[in-house]
Amino acid sequence: MKKFTTLCSLFALFLLLGACKSDFNYYYYSKEETELLSQFLKLPEFPDDYTVTLPSHLRNAGLFARGVERDKAVLGRVIFYDKKLSKDGTVSCASCHKQELAFSDNKAFSDGVYDRSTARNSIALGSVANFSAYYGTDLNGSNAIRFFWDNRAETAADQSRGSMTNAQEMDMSMHEIASTVESQSYYGPLFKKAFGSTVVTEDLVLEAVSNFVNAMGSFQSKFDAEANLSQGNFTGNFGNVIYNNNFNGFTAAENRGKQLYNNNCSSCHSGNMGRPVLQLANNGLEANPIDLGVGGISGANSEKGAFKVPTLRNIALTAPYMHDGRFNNLIEVIDFYNTGIQNHPFLHADLRVGGVPMQMNFSADDKNDLIAFLNTLTDDHLLADKKFSDPFKQ
Ligand code: HEC
Ligand code: HEC
Repeated sequence: MKKFTTLCSLFALFLLLGACKSDFNYYYYSKEETELLSQFLKLPEFPDDYTVTLPSHLRNAGLFARGVERDKAVLGRVIFYDKKLSKDGTVSCASCHKQELAFSDNKAFSDGVYDRSTARNSIALGSVANFSAYYGTDLNGSNAIRFFWDNRAETAADQSRGSMTNAQEMDMSMHEIASTVESQSYYGPLFKKAFGSTVVTEDLVLEAVSNFVNAMGSFQSKFDAEANLSQGNFTGNFGNVIYNNNFNGFTAAENRGKQLYNNNCSSCHSGNMGRPVLQLANNGLEANPIDLGVGGISGANSEKGAFKVPTLRNIALTAPYMHDGRFNNLIEVIDFYNTGIQNHPFLHADLRVGGVPMQMNFSADDKNDLIAFLNTLTDDHLLADKKFSDPFKQ
């Protein structure tokens, strides 16, 4: 009897749940929208959350992420992966910014439309803790970190416009971008959620891509986990917090590498892998550079041969290295800093001693330790995070 009542009440509960379920017919996208979207895209029924929460060690150092609007980021993700938005239909942002490589490319120069090559090495978007935390003059005024190796773009929207219209990349006019977006049925529901209407404009397309890029963050590396535990134990301030204590979770080699990095590299690339300390520097790749970098845009003599200082998150994944992809691996990079720095008149003071280029004199063990440390900056979470992956069905 007891069994029977239990069964009965289970059955009643089941009916009740069933009833609740059939009453619950709220879906984020309507049935028609879901059917349309699912013909082309693998998007979750309910949109992913694109809120960025930086780890405590970066928040305590004064970095904060800008709000990301979820539905704009969802739309931006589709635009980021859509090859139809290029002149010959073969290239999307993701062709040169691949998630499994921390959104970089493994070629010195990337392939754009019609097999054209880019003039510089693709920049890893996962090389920073978070774009919105410090990129774009709309947030940080004159202290802002600008986009591209020569710092020519001020905001994520400017940067995206640059990539879409660059003849070596996607080679579209913004008008063509907007009309292509308008003509693809799957953008209708996404645009409506993001902007309340299906009217496509160039600015709205750029706003959506910016939201997606701004949501990208890489802050779950081994280094971050250890830095979170070591707070209060640093020197420096906002721009350049340096952890001189050994991290408990690091191997001896990683800790030795960290110390070498702090002493020789952090004054430019930053000690907490937050904001780069300098917006640009001449690191002495060439005594007489042909690519003038920032100076090629600004015209300032002192900036000729200076380039954006990249942060080094996920650096183990983003070979080849430098603005022209000249170094194939980290050993070559370290050998360059060891003995290869060239005597450019505007070589940065941190890489000079007594008026001549510095030789860092790393031993073979030092080099291995530095590389062991650089490997702690890899964030596997970003590489596997579905909400940044290709949403297209084929
Ligand atoms: C054909 C390859 C290619 C395509 C397509 C491409 N990029 Fe890039 N991207 C690059 C290269 C190369 C650079 C560095 C160029 C330079 O600095 O002159 C770059 C730089 C960037 C940067 C600057 C990062 C920084 O730290 O300054 C961002 C952001 C970016 N791309 C996002 C995008 C987005 C969004 C799209 C699509 C709208 C896109 N890219 C399409 C190759 C590409
Ligand atoms: C004076 C500032 C400065 C110092 C000090 C410095 N770097 Fe750099 N680093 C730069 C600049 C600027 C670039 C970009 C140069 C370019 O591509 O033209 C760069 C590029 C790099 C890159 C390539 C990044 C990429 O995405 O391609 C690596 C790796 C690197 N540095 C590692 C180091 C290491 C390791 C040290 C210390 C041994 C160090 N740097 C010291 C300024 C500096």
